[in-house]
Amino acid sequence: MDKSTKSIKNMFLNFFKKENHKVLDSSSIIPTNDSSLLFTNAGMNQFKDIYLDIEKPIYEKVCTSQYCLRIGGKHNDLDTVGFTNRHHTLFEMLGNFSFGAYFKYEAIMLAWKLLTSESWFNIQKAKLLVTVYYLDREAYDIWTKDIGMPKEKVILVGDKNKKEPYVSDNFWCMGEVGPCGPCSEIFYDYGKHLFGYLPGDEKGCGYRYVEVWNLVFMQYNRQYNNLMTPLAKPSVDTGMGLERISAVLQNVDSTFKTDIFSKTIAIVKKELNINYLNDYLYVIADHIRTCFYIIKNGIYPSNEGRGYVLRRVIRRMIRHLNLLGIEKACIYRLIYELKDVYIDYIEEKAINIKHIETIILYEEARFYNTIKKGLEVLLNKINKKEVKEELDGKTAFFLYDTYGLPIDFIVEICNEKDIKIDIDSFIKPMELQKSLSRKDSLISPSEKAREELDIKATSIFVGYNKLEYIAFIKELLFNNNKVNTIYEGQYGVLVLNKTSFYPETGGQVGDIGEIKTIKGLFKVTNTKNYNKAILHFGRVMYGFFRLKEAVIINVDAEYRKAIKVNHSAVHILNKVLCSYIKKKLIQKGSYITANHIRFDFICGKGKLLNNEEAKIIEEEVNEQIINNMLIVTKLLSFADVKENIKDNIIFIQREYEAIVRIVNIFGLSIELCKGTHTNRTGDIGLLSIASQYSIAKNIIRIEAVTGRASIAFVFSNKAILKKLKEVTNSNEYKLCDHLTHIKAEYNKLEREVKYIRNTHLAFYIESLIKELKAYNDNIIIKTIGSFYSSFLYLIAKCLIDNLRAKVIILNTKHGNNVRFIIGITEDLLCYIKAKDIIDYFIVNLKGKGGGSLKLVQGVGEFILFKKEIEAISNLILNNIR
Ligand code: ALA
Repeated sequence: MDKSTKSIKNMFLNFFKKENHKVLDSSSIIPTNDSSLLFTNAGMNQFKDIYLDIEKPIYEKVCTSQYCLRIGGKHNDLDTVGFTNRHHTLFEMLGNFSFGAYFKYEAIMLAWKLLTSESWFNIQKAKLLVTVYYLDREAYDIWTKDIGMPKEKVILVGDKNKKEPYVSDNFWCMGEVGPCGPCSEIFYDYGKHLFGYLPGDEKGCGYRYVEVWNLVFMQYNRQYNNLMTPLAKPSVDTGMGLERISAVLQNVDSTFKTDIFSKTIAIVKKELNINYLNDYLYVIADHIRTCFYIIKNGIYPSNEGRGYVLRRVIRRMIRHLNLLGIEKACIYRLIYELKDVYIDYIEEKAINIKHIETIILYEEARFYNTIKKGLEVLLNKINKKEVKEELDGKTAFFLYDTYGLPIDFIVEICNEKDIKIDIDSFIKPMELQKSLSRKDSLISPSEKAREELDIKATSIFVGYNKLEYIAFIKELLFNNNKVNTIYEGQYGVLVLNKTSFYPETGGQVGDIGEIKTIKGLFKVTNTKNYNKAILHFGRVMYGFFRLKEAVIINVDAEYRKAIKVNHSAVHILNKVLCSYIKKKLIQKGSYITANHIRFDFICGKGKLLNNEEAKIIEEEVNEQIINNMLIVTKLLSFADVKENIKDNIIFIQREYEAIVRIVNIFGLSIELCKGTHTNRTGDIGLLSIASQYSIAKNIIRIEAVTGRASIAFVFSNKAILKKLKEVTNSNEYKLCDHLTHIKAEYNKLEREVKYIRNTHLAFYIESLIKELKAYNDNIIIKTIGSFYSSFLYLIAKCLIDNLRAKVIILNTKHGNNVRFIIGITEDLLCYIKAKDIIDYFIVNLKGKGGGSLKLVQGVGEFILFKKEIEAISNLILNNIR
């Protein structure tokens, strides 16, 4: 058996493929379906909604190899890495998953077969032992009876204090909330020569026993209030650390000695000229791989969220390099040297290595330029014994505020030196300062402010064909003021001498993309014109930007492509509409984005196109798309245009510049237009009209999608049609008749039901009045069943009109709440008003409501309502007596 990490991974997936599991890809390390997670922390994350029965699985048995990060949140290994033989911040988790297809027995049998069978991993059975959740007798019996494991090797693990049922290392939960259940962990015993306590022992298993596989039997959904609700289908989620099983199969006693990490460490040692091995090298080998993956996924170092985690990892790496005596930027260089180790392994070739290097270089430079100084000040204070047993919050804040020394650094150094730190008195001023600076930096120039800007620069647009360009910064704006520099995290505006970014004009939205230097990256989120300047709106993702600096421009090509296609589609739509409608069509504007197009026009009295007309228009536009005509643009003098091609052009502006640009779709249309266009009509793919409606007097708006969005639109309509056919048990030819029939039937039945209910209601109210007249009590509290719940007001009104000397409280259950109505008969109004009572209810029931003096209604918490009734009765009686 080839024992490289790559082959072991393939072997795992092949095993489960043979066992009828579908092999799926790793999901992104940035979860898309869960806002409670910073990073993907387990193989099961991508299936969370399936476990919770929110989403239906396509396959009931699947397996994956999932990239996971355990830095932050419930599962956080950051501080352990480098100091054990098995922890990593980033690792691959091999897993098989069953969504109701099998449960404990099959999961355990499959795991045992893969681990011990001669044709698979072939691990000696005697080397394995397991832990089981202490209340899980079923799993215990499978391990001891069906598998035949000696009892002393099946260890029951519970809550150490034996107090809470679900607190145990053998009860796995994705996070504070989410799917969870008891688990069985499989351990490998490296042997007596290594030190360690048995799994489950509070003192930890040391180096001897390593958990290789966790089999979770998903049974519950843990909610915020710690409530456990059972899952619809008991399921299975397993996770085996690829790096750990590689260590076992490669016969080495640490994951850092496996192929990937030994190659990494050799390169790091060579490049940094280090000829010994210690734990700090492990930290670096682990962290550099993690940074590589995080940055590859589009995250930048920053002071919040994922960016902050990345920043911490880079800084921790720098700290450990410092401890090795290396005090200059060097990590960025390692990226280039290590790229082959990673790329070979992840089989993903299109990775922008330069980008990863630049970000790390900048972070290193930032550290040495700013943080280093703060670090020296702190160490000096410690050495001079100015700081002894405890670092006070004021000094910590001073280091943070003046030198930019991050809190995690301060804490880490204090921990190293056994110094306590008064975090609480540090946090307050820090939070205050953060909120103030956030207020400033988040302001991006508003439209109104733009009118008052003092920008004199001229920018030239050079981006019809070039999406990359080198230009110079002519103006910088922060908070609507001109500045010389804008810094990381700030939102601002860049004005360049030349630019490839198309500014929003003629209905076409502005481009997005990136503007870079070696020291910084600015993400452009919109581009607009202002006088003769082109403004790039966005945020400095890292680094800073200075006036007059040269920058590299990178327009987002995919985004531009989608806009180009849409703009050409608008020209075709315009032309087809004109030809079809024949009467003069007046274009009232268009809006062209990457996702969709809007076209507004006036035509006669603004009657919408009927279905047949819309169909003809849509067909004709698509005919022109299929014809795949060439689209060319040309600059001509306006005089020339007026003279030679005026008959084909509609002039919509009053004045035009001397030189104009024409867009010619061969054989179809010629328009004056500054926008960006695709080369051939075929690039549009398919146009679908999504909607049509009036927006103002006589103005009709057509909304449409093209390309992929259009195909998605068609497919989604197809799916709706299929569903409709299924529910109505009909086919596409009969569907319309069928639905018309159902609708007619429904209207008839609705009328009948209304009639019956009204008759019933009249009887009900009559009998209620009779019943209540016989009551001696002044206060009547009555719960109305769901059948009449929507008539609460009417019932109450009839009651107070027909009864005397009564306070009537009607209520009905409404989800978890109660809807109630309080009515007072006329003769009691001099003692008490309905309004007085509802005020009391609102305060005590966390509810809301209102009404007149006689009749009020409201909603409140059901549970509280019951208690309040008694109190309110006394209140009313006191008033009446
Ligand atoms: N989801 C389980 C774990 O992460 C398998 O350990």
